[in-house]
Amino acid sequence: MNFQTVKALLSDTHQLHDVHVKGWVRTFRANRFIALNDGSTIQNIQCVVDFEKLEEEQLKRITTGAAISVSGILVESQGKGQSVEIQVSRIEILGDSDPDEYPIQPKKHSFEFLREKAHLRVRTNTFSAVMRVRSALSFAVHQYFHKEGFYHVHTPIITGSDAEGAGEMFRVTTLDKSESNPEEDFFGKETNLTVSGQLEAETYAMGMGKVYTFGPTFRAENSNTSRHLAEFWMIEPEVAFNELDDNMDLAEDFIKSVLSYVVDYCADDLKFLDQRLEQEEKTKPQLQRAELGLLERLQFIIENQFKRVSYTEAIEILKNCKPNKKKKFKYIIDEWGADLQSEHERYLVEKHFKCPVILFDYPAKIKAFYMRRNEDGKTVRAMDILFPGIGEMVGGSQREERLEVLKERMAEMDIEEEELWWYLELRKFGTAPHSGFGLGFERLVQFTTGMGNIRDVIPFPRTPQNADF
Ligand code: 4AD
Ligand code: MG
Repeated sequence: MNFQTVKALLSDTHQLHDVHVKGWVRTFRANRFIALNDGSTIQNIQCVVDFEKLEEEQLKRITTGAAISVSGILVESQGKGQSVEIQVSRIEILGDSDPDEYPIQPKKHSFEFLREKAHLRVRTNTFSAVMRVRSALSFAVHQYFHKEGFYHVHTPIITGSDAEGAGEMFRVTTLDKSESNPEEDFFGKETNLTVSGQLEAETYAMGMGKVYTFGPTFRAENSNTSRHLAEFWMIEPEVAFNELDDNMDLAEDFIKSVLSYVVDYCADDLKFLDQRLEQEEKTKPQLQRAELGLLERLQFIIENQFKRVSYTEAIEILKNCKPNKKKKFKYIIDEWGADLQSEHERYLVEKHFKCPVILFDYPAKIKAFYMRRNEDGKTVRAMDILFPGIGEMVGGSQREERLEVLKERMAEMDIEEEELWWYLELRKFGTAPHSGFGLGFERLVQFTTGMGNIRDVIPFPRTPQNADF
């Protein structure tokens, strides 16, 4: 019996229920109270044993981390802290856990320590809560697009084109180090792990109308930050006959919808994570105290419109602002055309507008070749969505659908036409306005769960110098 099923019985405690559960021991107090958890919920079930009826040998084996099977009856709890408990009639030890060796003892462990125990950290309250929320968000993503009439496309993970320019790529090869002729390689050419499924998704949007990909993407950038992974999951919808405004509407509605889903569906886990964050902010004075708690933040996002501002307006705000009397920006924004650093993005979101911001119409020079050029000739129909505490959550654009303009842009950026002949053919045969965006799934999980480091929202993080497990 799963804990979720047991939970369903909780409302009906007048009746005695025979229950049979399996799980891992979180704690065992006073030779009497086992806090058992099977991973399906944040709530442990208290199992009360009558130690006089159990053998000494068996009692000793009930240790933190051990897997056990418990039979008994579900009764109203005598003690505080839980409404019901199991009066145990029978216990079977399924798997021992040596208390001298098991690293996840019932005490506070640092996240750094737990990263080294990534194979066991999901047995803690925090990580199991985060991973359940992650799973629910992933489901909500598919549910949203399904409901909105999108088709899910599986774009390739190994790619032969290196044209997107979104980041350094990881080479995929079967050649020995000594061999270097790409023609002799497995695919007969150089191949890499994909940085984005966008270009392939565009081909499908231009045949199926509304599509999305949701897959792993890889970037070999040496960014050792709390917002970057070398392997992360990206959600990329692409829609034919859609312009930039439609794209912004879609992104905003999508984010609000998946957040609403988890606020309802993961109420217990989010409540726990809310309290965890509050505790953390109290004990670490170096952390800036947020004005809103985690749940309030989520509710705020769901209920309020994102602020839409053009890049040019944002630059004016940044040029004239004084971020902090003592502390100025590290990178001063003094001219139009400069790329925004995360300190600027966070200033706009956290200090100036105090809500998510959609920045649009960026200078062409700092954006990808495929973004649609505006009539002014110097900006493109790009949009980034910036989130409090996170910075860039979404990057997207309307795509350049005019063959000649696209070719011009590619030439300016030294991108060979031969390499993207198929991409250009979309503009030759039945071209039409279309647009899409990419949302970094881990950044969404980070925002939703209030976790400070992106390495703690994916089961096995891949970062520079680290690919354990
Ligand atoms: O802004 P990016 O680079 O956009 C693209 O790749 C486009 N092809 C998307 C599209 O239009 N279909 O990446 C999109 C998002 C970012 O906004 C960020 O949330 C996330 O992906 N992201 C990362 N997340 C974790 N670790 C990294 N190294 C990331 N790089 C980007
Ligand atoms: Mg971007």
